Amino acid sequence: TPRVFSGIQPSGGLTLGNYLGAMKRFVDMQNEGSHETVYCMVDMHAITVWQDPDKLRRATRELCAGFIAAGIDPNKSILFNQSQVAEHAQLAWIFNCVARMGWMQRMTQWKDKAGKNQQNASLGLLAYPALMAADILVYHATHVPVGDDQKQHLELTRDVAIKFNHDYGVDFFPITEPVIEGAATRVMSLRDGSKKMSKSDPSDASRINMTDDADTIAKKIRKAKTDPDALPSEEKGLEDRPEARNLVNIYAALAEQSVDAVLREMGGKQFSEFKPILSDLAVEKLAPISTEMARLMQDPAEIDRILGHGAQQAREIAAPILKKTYDIVGMISST
Ligand code: TYM
Repeated sequence: TPRVFSGIQPSGGLTLGNYLGAMKRFVDMQNEGSHETVYCMVDMHAITVWQDPDKLRRATRELCAGFIAAGIDPNKSILFNQSQVAEHAQLAWIFNCVARMGWMQRMTQWKDKAGKNQQNASLGLLAYPALMAADILVYHATHVPVGDDQKQHLELTRDVAIKFNHDYGVDFFPITEPVIEGAATRVMSLRDGSKKMSKSDPSDASRINMTDDADTIAKKIRKAKTDPDALPSEEKGLEDRPEARNLVNIYAALAEQSVDAVLREMGGKQFSEFKPILSDLAVEKLAPISTEMARLMQDPAEIDRILGHGAQQAREIAAPILKKTYDIVGMISST
C-alpha cells in the first residue's frame, strides 16, 4: 500500500490555514483507507529558531491534541513527534552530504526566515529542507499532503532522492508526489489578501486560531478585509479580488463544496450578508475541535503515551530503511 507522510511544526498554535490546508486533508487521507498514514509533530524543525523549552513541550502536546480532535485516530494513523525517532536525524545527516549548498540557499523559506542577517541564522535553518526530505524518505513515503507553501521543499525532496539514487547507482528512494489539493491550499491573512495566514503574523486579527472561541471567530470574520462589491456567481468574478476569493475558499473548504457550488448559492450576496453565514459555519466546524483539544490537554500523560506508542510504530518502518541506506553508503552496521 502507498504510504502518506506529513508533518506540522509545534511552534505556536494551529491556525485555520494549517487545519484547512493540511490537517483536514490528513484526516481525509486516513479515512480513505487506501494509504498507510504517518503524521509527525516536527519538533526538530521547530528549534531551527529558538523555542522556549516549556512552550515547545506544551505546543507539541497541544498539536497532538489538535490532530486527534480534528479526527486523526492513533489506531488508524501513526502519530508521533519527530525527535523520538532518531532515524530522522540519522538520515538527515546523509542527506546533508547529498544535497548542495546552492539548493538550500535558493529556498524562499530560508531567505524569508533568515532575513538580512544570514550569517547569524542557525545552520539548522539552512539545512531544514534536508531534514524534511529525511522525514519523508525514511518511510519511503510516496504521497505528501501539504499546503501550497511547501511545494518548493517537496521539489527539493525529489532532487535529494534522485541525486542519492544516482550517486550510489541504486533505485532506492521513491520520487514522492506532493498532494496539494482542495479549495484551501493557500489560506490568506484576513487583513491582507496578498499575505499567507500565518502563526507568526504579529496581528492576531490576521488569523483564526484553532483555539479561538466562537465570539473571537465571529469578530475576526466580521472585521476581515473585503472589497465593496457583492459576491460574483462564477469563479472568474473572483479575479483580482484576493480577499473575496480567500473568504470564498475558506467557506468552500469548511463546507466541503467546490468554489463553483458556493458561488452558485452565494453569488449576489453582499459581504454584510455572507460574513455572518461564513462565521456560523466556521464556529460550527471549529468549536467542537477546540473543545476537544482543551479536554485532551487535561491529560498530558495520555498524550505522551500516544506519542510514545506512535514513535515505536514509526521506528519499525524507519529502522530497516535507514539500515539499508547505511549499507548502500558503505557504513558498517552490525546486527
Ligand atoms: P508548517 O508547520 O508551517 O505548516 C503545516 C502545514 O500547514 C500548511 N499551511 C497552510 N496551508 C494553507 N494555508 C496556509 N495559510 C497555511 N499555513 C500553513 C503547510 O503547507 C503545511 O502543510 N516544513 C513543514 C513541516 C514539515 C513537513 C515535513 C511537511 C517538516 N517535515 C515533511 C511535510 C512533510 C512546515 O513548516 O509546515
